[in-house]
Amino acid sequence: MSADYLFVPLQLGALSLPNRIVMPALTRMRAGPGGVPLPISAEYYAQRASAGLIVTEATAISANAHGYPQMPGIYSPDQIAGWRRVTEAVHAKGGLIVLQIVHHERWSHSSYNPDGSPPVAPSSIAAPGLAYTPAFQQAPFETPHALETDEIPEIVEAFWNAARNALDANFDGVEIHGANGFLLDQFLQDGSNHRNDEYGGSIENRTRLLLEVVDAIIDVIGADRTAVRLSPHGNLGGLSDSDTVPHFIYVIRELGKRELAYLHMIEPRASSAGFGDDASVDNANNAALFRHAFDGPMITAGGYSPEAAVQVLESKLADAVAFGRMFVANPDLPERIRGGAALNRFDRATAYAGGSQGYTDYPRLAAASQV
Ligand SMILES: Cc1cc2nc3c(=O)[nH]c(=O)nc-3n(C[C@H](O)[C@H](O)[C@H](O)COP(=O)(O)O)c2cc1C
Repeated sequence: MSADYLFVPLQLGALSLPNRIVMPALTRMRAGPGGVPLPISAEYYAQRASAGLIVTEATAISANAHGYPQMPGIYSPDQIAGWRRVTEAVHAKGGLIVLQIVHHERWSHSSYNPDGSPPVAPSSIAAPGLAYTPAFQQAPFETPHALETDEIPEIVEAFWNAARNALDANFDGVEIHGANGFLLDQFLQDGSNHRNDEYGGSIENRTRLLLEVVDAIIDVIGADRTAVRLSPHGNLGGLSDSDTVPHFIYVIRELGKRELAYLHMIEPRASSAGFGDDASVDNANNAALFRHAFDGPMITAGGYSPEAAVQVLESKLADAVAFGRMFVANPDLPERIRGGAALNRFDRATAYAGGSQGYTDYPRLAAASQV
């Protein structure tokens, strides 16, 4: 089986990818004050421009949508200008880049909200475990404020506004973060959504917010530049669902009607965010379980080696494969895969926050072979 298969060009909506090796969203916690991307982030993303497609780190849609320290946003003029620097640098190297947009809440802390208000959520159920505050201190997750029905349009509007700003910053598209336990995923999964209005109860109701967000964003940037990320079986942020497969088949079928640029599915075997394996969800194979429900292009992520990526493409269970940790550690990952070269190892200690170390200083192949 040859790695050549990963280098067959691919059309994802309006996006023409030169290869099928995708850099997925990777939170790095290196934005400057006010959630403004710094010049070093332009350098970091431009280093990785040979990816078929870059998806940025999860980016807050509003001042109340943050949940990690030094997380970037896309709601202020300075943030838009900071991101424009990033898109220009990637485009100058011939790359494609879409912005991943998120509302963190429940998996957040009141200290992120300018008015100190508690995080919001579908229901007043606290996430298990500890939050990181903006000062990198740990604090228990708080009991969130259950959104009133008439507060939900503000959330949709903030997503819409973020997509409009993404266009302004010259992104090639937007990936809506519906995965990994954040707000939209909290609505989808019934362990965190106990509502009894039109946004809770049946899976049709629980999917409503995601679809409202998707439709609002399609209005701004077109379906062929709009994408969604999902993580069925993912249990990050303490999420769970009573009947994952039929519920997510419904969600995916509804998304399929919208002719999106792509759907990005995360395999649970890497516990959704690249942490340790979780035996309880290890057996699920989302590519196999959900591919048949979606007509459009599908990206798969989660624990892929280049060999496993070729297999999943060959079996037609996905159209492209995202490599998370490998892209952190290998700015020139496509070149390395093509040449069968050794890969730099991902260093978790420098993954989050800090400066250039573990960010822009992973060596490229030529540099690596000289040492
Ligand atoms: C340091 C780090 C940060 C991540 N940040 C995000 C993120 O912002 N948004 C997201 O959807 N997934 C995020 N993920 C998950 C990755 O996109 C990817 O799905 C995961 O790492 C599994 O792929 P891998 O096994 O190739 O690393 C993150 C993973 C890591 C390791």
